[in-house]
Amino acid sequence: MEDIRSLIELSRSRGVILSKFDLSENTFVYVLTIDRPQVRNALDFEAMRSLRSYAAQIKSSLTESCLAVVLTGANDTFISGGDLKALQDQRSVTVAQEMSTLMRSTLKALQDLPCLLVCAADGAIVGGGAEVFIAADYRIMSAQAHIRFAQASLALSTGWGGARRLAQVLGRSKALALLLEGERLSSQSSLDLGLCHQVSKSMNALSCTLLWLKKFCYTPQALIGIKALLKDDSFNHIDELENEIFPHLWAHDEHWQAVDRLWSHRAGMKKTNKDVEEIQSMKPEFRSEARAEDGAISLNQAKRGLFIVLEGIDGAGTTSQAERLVAWLEEHQYSAYMTQEPSSGVIGRLTRQALRGEAIGHGQNLLPAESIALLFAADRADHWYNEIEPKLERGEVVVCDRYLYSSLAYQGLELPESWVRSLNMLYPQPDLLLFVEVDPAIASQRRDQRGLEADRYEVDELQIQIAKRYATICQEYEATFINGEQSLDEVTQACLAPLKSLLEMA
Ligand code: TMP
Repeated sequence: MEDIRSLIELSRSRGVILSKFDLSENTFVYVLTIDRPQVRNALDFEAMRSLRSYAAQIKSSLTESCLAVVLTGANDTFISGGDLKALQDQRSVTVAQEMSTLMRSTLKALQDLPCLLVCAADGAIVGGGAEVFIAADYRIMSAQAHIRFAQASLALSTGWGGARRLAQVLGRSKALALLLEGERLSSQSSLDLGLCHQVSKSMNALSCTLLWLKKFCYTPQALIGIKALLKDDSFNHIDELENEIFPHLWAHDEHWQAVDRLWSHRAGMKKTNKDVEEIQSMKPEFRSEARAEDGAISLNQAKRGLFIVLEGIDGAGTTSQAERLVAWLEEHQYSAYMTQEPSSGVIGRLTRQALRGEAIGHGQNLLPAESIALLFAADRADHWYNEIEPKLERGEVVVCDRYLYSSLAYQGLELPESWVRSLNMLYPQPDLLLFVEVDPAIASQRRDQRGLEADRYEVDELQIQIAKRYATICQEYEATFINGEQSLDEVTQACLAPLKSLLEMA
């Protein structure tokens, strides 16, 4: 978990704060925070100028140790556009041109930096704020954040380069609809559309961003190289650039240090070549059975990664704990990967829409329970073969928030359990199954505090029955039961205990 109190404030001017955060001994990021609470971080001319001058200052002092500039908003808001009150009397074409030029050049200067431009948003991203957000190379929203291109509702078009960037991200047709209709999109819908890259459910967007950036502190050259490759939207020179950048990265110490780290961390954790060949020569439908049976190989004879699964009712805190386990693993130099089900793949996204009642069936009816169970199982196949399995083969530790036990607990409630089990029989068991147990009444309070819209299963009476089913199922599958009613840190420690033993054995 990144403690944002360790941000070092360098200076502040007219509602914009420039800070620095050390990711490691040799790498850091700059953080630009808009802090204008009285106007929900809307920008007046002075704030815009100060942002411009900070961009210039960063550019002139930039070294290769700076991995990113993070743009964020204080007070649980990102940026709510131009400060209409302050700009009230500035009605001329000339003023508008000046403002547009100023913000365009600021965003271009930030985008043109060799390091990554990341936006981290915790609340409203509105109008011009949305144009700033979409200008970033990488965008992270917390669960309660939402975005709205509200320009048309004020009889305006975009003025800070937002239409072009939005069209580049979403395609012309979707961008046009979003700009005309000014729809307010939740963080989840933004993720589904591709407007943001990550939604942080358990920590604020800045902490999540710093944690994510920490991953690159051993490979800054690769981060800078990849940004350089994809900087030019027209991709005119991408092949020549790749020809230049790739050999330079290949020969760089960072690459060979990364290779050394990989070998030393995987020692003893990967399948032997023979095992891999044997499994690869099987038909895909038989592969998982072979893997399910060869549990002993996965840790001792085989150099394979570890598969860790967290389960629990809605509000048990499995997502926060999965994030914390990955953070711990990364801090201890393991190559770790956090994922969840429903996954972020095409079927996973459809499944989430179905859970929210947005993807509906014939005659405008909700999809039947069978369709939902099949969606989860179909998503699991894609997730397993195309995401989890390749990472385990590479020796990574994969931490998965929910897996087939969710199907047994949730879908088994509405449908014959034997049928749900048969849909899931091909997927291998994890190396460690953690069941985070929380009283349904407490989980219900936590869901209320989150204030997110309830999905198909987030109904108290259902959760009580699901909790009972979970306890039986997790006993059958020899899960480690974790008391999820303790403090976040205590729960993490309880999850880490069996994980550490497993790592030691591996
Ligand atoms: P979550 O992202 O908050 O965990 O939401 C996912 C929801 O989907 C949650 O209510 C549990 C439910 N679910 C199933 O019903 N079956 C499954 O197989 C999975 C993975 C999730």
